[in-house]
Amino acid sequence: MRSVLITGAGSGIGLQLARDYAADGWRVVACGRDRSRLEQALEGVEAELCLFDMENREQTVRVLGAQAELDLVILNAGSCEYIDDALHFDAALFERVIRTNLIGTANCMAPLLARIKRGGRLALVGSSVTWLPLPRAEAYGASKAGLDYLARSLALDLSHRRIGVSLVRPGFVDTPLTRKNDFPMPGRISVQQASHAIRRGLSRGRAEIGFPFGFVLALRLLSWLPRGLWLWLTRRTPRSTT
Ligand SMILES: NC(=O)c1ccc[n+]([C@@H]2O[C@H](COP(=O)([O-])OP(=O)(O)OC[C@H]3O[C@@H](n4cnc5c(N)ncnc54)[C@H](OP(=O)(O)O)[C@@H]3O)[C@@H](O)[C@H]2O)c1
Repeated sequence: MRSVLITGAGSGIGLQLARDYAADGWRVVACGRDRSRLEQALEGVEAELCLFDMENREQTVRVLGAQAELDLVILNAGSCEYIDDALHFDAALFERVIRTNLIGTANCMAPLLARIKRGGRLALVGSSVTWLPLPRAEAYGASKAGLDYLARSLALDLSHRRIGVSLVRPGFVDTPLTRKNDFPMPGRISVQQASHAIRRGLSRGRAEIGFPFGFVLALRLLSWLPRGLWLWLTRRTPRSTT
């Protein structure tokens, strides 16, 4: 039986991944911070629960350090907050987002990397935001750009142990995280579609898994625009990010 550990399994993309891998017959270790929330979300799903706040390194290392060997680790948990007033930069917000998305991910990696089987895989859930700078995304984008580099660098250092590393770069997915957004979200897809794209990419051993295709293509084309033109365009469009 293949095994997968998923962080942020209590809602959104992580929850759908837990449901789908369990339905496919995998042993699923579902991680979250709140037992009752996790139990409620995963009702009827065959999964082992793993409880910790990934911002608490001591707790994270202790809890994850007790895990058996795994075929797949998906570090998906994360948060998003926007910088509304760049001029009066909110350093506390910046720290919160970096602490969750980047430091929290590293806290999980510390006990887990040595528990991934030879031939296994680590997936980090980043974002398509890093294709180009978007307004208000200073904190979120910086945290996800950190994950981009982390994934590419780790891939080099883990290859000798035959552990693959995948960077997942979703566009807009309909989850509690994006339901807070008050701006248009082009190409938004369901968690079922996101889970399908991620599982397919991972099963094929892709180093980068970006979706949905049309949205990623649009971002990539925009990223090739001269910087001045992108600046001019962002001044004229509603402020949004993913
Ligand atoms: N939705 C999108 O459009 C989109 C696009 C690009 C990238 N992403 C990325 O996809 C990932 C999943 O996001 P989602 O959209 O599925 O959002 P979500 O429904 O809000 O799920 C995020 C999960 O992360 C968990 N989490 C947050 N901080 C944590 C901490 N300190 N310790 C343990 N767990 C923590 C949350 O647990 P609690 O329930 O306890 O808060 C929640 O289960 C995130 O990394 C996000 O940045 C999402």
